[in-house]
Amino acid sequence: MPHPKRKILVTSALPYANGAIHIGHLVEYIQTDIWVRYQRLCGHQVVYVCGDDAHGTPIMLRARKEGLSPEDFIGRMNLEHQRDFARFDIAFDSYYSTHSTENQALCVHIYEILRKNGHIVTRDVEQFFDPMEQIFLPDRFIRGTCPNCKAPDQYGDSCEICGKHYQPTDLINPRSAVSGAIPVRKTSRHFFLRLEHFRQQLQNLLQTRFVDESVANKLREWFTTELKDWDISRDAPFFGFAIPDEADKYFYNWLDAPIGYLASLAHYLAAPAEDAIQFWQNDDLEVHHFIGKDIVYFHALFWPAMLFGAGLRPPTKLAVHGHLTVNAEKMSKSRGTFISALQYARYLDPQWLRYYFATRLTTAPSDLDLSFEDFTARVNSELVGKLANLISRAAPMLNRLLNGETGVPVVDALPLLEQLRQAKPEIAQAFEERNFAGATRQICSLADKANKFVEDNAPWVLVKTDAQAARGVLTAALEAGRILTIYLKAIVPQFARSVEQCLNIAPLEWQHIEDSMPAHKINAFVHLATRVDDKAVQSLIQENMMSEPTAVTPPSVIPPTPSTATSSSSNPSPAGPGSVEPLAPTCTIEQFAAVDLRVARVISAEDLPGSDKLLKLQLDAGALGHRVVLAGIKKAIALDQLPGRLVIFCANLAPRKMKLGTSEGMVLASGPGGTEVFLLSVDSRATPGQRVH
Ligand code: 2FM
Ligand code: ZN
Repeated sequence: MPHPKRKILVTSALPYANGAIHIGHLVEYIQTDIWVRYQRLCGHQVVYVCGDDAHGTPIMLRARKEGLSPEDFIGRMNLEHQRDFARFDIAFDSYYSTHSTENQALCVHIYEILRKNGHIVTRDVEQFFDPMEQIFLPDRFIRGTCPNCKAPDQYGDSCEICGKHYQPTDLINPRSAVSGAIPVRKTSRHFFLRLEHFRQQLQNLLQTRFVDESVANKLREWFTTELKDWDISRDAPFFGFAIPDEADKYFYNWLDAPIGYLASLAHYLAAPAEDAIQFWQNDDLEVHHFIGKDIVYFHALFWPAMLFGAGLRPPTKLAVHGHLTVNAEKMSKSRGTFISALQYARYLDPQWLRYYFATRLTTAPSDLDLSFEDFTARVNSELVGKLANLISRAAPMLNRLLNGETGVPVVDALPLLEQLRQAKPEIAQAFEERNFAGATRQICSLADKANKFVEDNAPWVLVKTDAQAARGVLTAALEAGRILTIYLKAIVPQFARSVEQCLNIAPLEWQHIEDSMPAHKINAFVHLATRVDDKAVQSLIQENMMSEPTAVTPPSVIPPTPSTATSSSSNPSPAGPGSVEPLAPTCTIEQFAAVDLRVARVISAEDLPGSDKLLKLQLDAGALGHRVVLAGIKKAIALDQLPGRLVIFCANLAPRKMKLGTSEGMVLASGPGGTEVFLLSVDSRATPGQRVH
């Protein structure tokens, strides 16, 4: 009987739209992406959605500071976030925004039901108000002296020095962090969700597999006292959705944020909000929210309460993780360890971080440390020294000595291969439980055994006396490498892609563990993984220490103005030879640095009969792996002119689905288009994967 396929909706928490993605965020997105890829590898149907959390006072103020409308500002951030996630191979099915028509419709729909069923009450609340800015101040926008330890300049909700939590009105000498004015107390009417109405349902939820036991114990403590009503409204001016039938009242952004999961689902379905609700309500559907431990309260109380109140099903599971420390300390700008995704990727390979985080992630929501010393040692000894090593040695040897033809594994290798296959259920369980540390430990220990087998059987000696036996040893080594690659594929997808290319096999799936490769010819070796150079790590930290921390970096994509909205591949430019194309708007050094240009070698070029412009290029991008790029150069260059050629390509362009396939980058060329496309040439001493400066 085939294994029944699961239907799973997976979400990662929606990042705020007022800051760059940093390596602390990446723990969650990498964790979720690995889990999603693992489920897909097993053949389950997964929809993975996310998007920007775009509403609230901080975002409104940030946009104002940047001289932009909130809409323009969040649009820019959204592009930037998508760029960063794509670079780390985090592959959402939909990356949307809470500021969307679908989300507004869903918020109003849910709120109306809650109101109709008597779950909403109103009452007056006294809060600090900035008389200069004419806004109510969120706790974080009030600074003053701690009432407990008297430390100056503390936030309105808690003291960073003594850790005490308090009300903003308790602060001594409070000031508005926006204008510096002395805040005044002002009363306004607020809307509350009556959480007590859902006590029983929320408690019952804890009897299911909603959270792991370690988290459930903490949550049960909440129910020992009355559940306080939850304030779901904010006063104008506010960037968010207006509450229906009310003047100058808006939904608190934490109300529309989780509903944003449904809105992103609607966007994925390309359907109205009701369809997302219908999808969500499907009895067979599992809903898994990946979140940090700091927002468990919102996801275990407020969100299910809203859902229950609206007659909707609760999520199946909260997958809760801890926070990241770097070199055993909180990420710090002055120590150079507050590292954005963009900065990291300028110096270090994203696959390394995926691998390293996997080795540190377990089911428990404990904090995890990125020690750069350990990072370098592990990537070099495990990913490169053990896992890549197996195929990196065996494949070139087979090519060099035995014409690249695999045969049948030697009999002596069968117990090893059997052991590798038998590890499947245990590794599967580790992935399912998000115990990626356990999975990588097992995979590495299997790799040790496989490497030892090659070492003990010395095919490079054997080949001198018994070519067939040497072929059998190398075939076994490649078979072992293939199985290990299946185990690793969810963690390091680019590595897996390079292995598939090198072994000349179809994309690997979990069910292929039991298969054996038939005798066949493998491809020329493609590089699988590069060692971490400690100097690059040091440069990253140094540069980061020197650079001004920027919460918001400039956009990576400037919407084209009408005069520059042409591209040579899709729409030939009207500017012929000799004429001058108008200059694009200026870009900053950060925007330029955001484009990751690399050298690649064209392995093969293929005609795409359905297109009169496009050719399909297979590129060897060195450590970045193998890429398929659809390039609009058909009219200009003959197919046989391409293989072996070194080109420059943009390596961090988000993969683009086109009618004839997905393009994973863009090769650089000049010229107006059509028959006049000139591929930029590269010095023959350059090697694939090298960065173009
Ligand atoms: O804590 C945060 O970063 C929030 N922006 C997460 C929102 S998750 C969800 F509820 F939308
Ligand atoms: Zn204090």
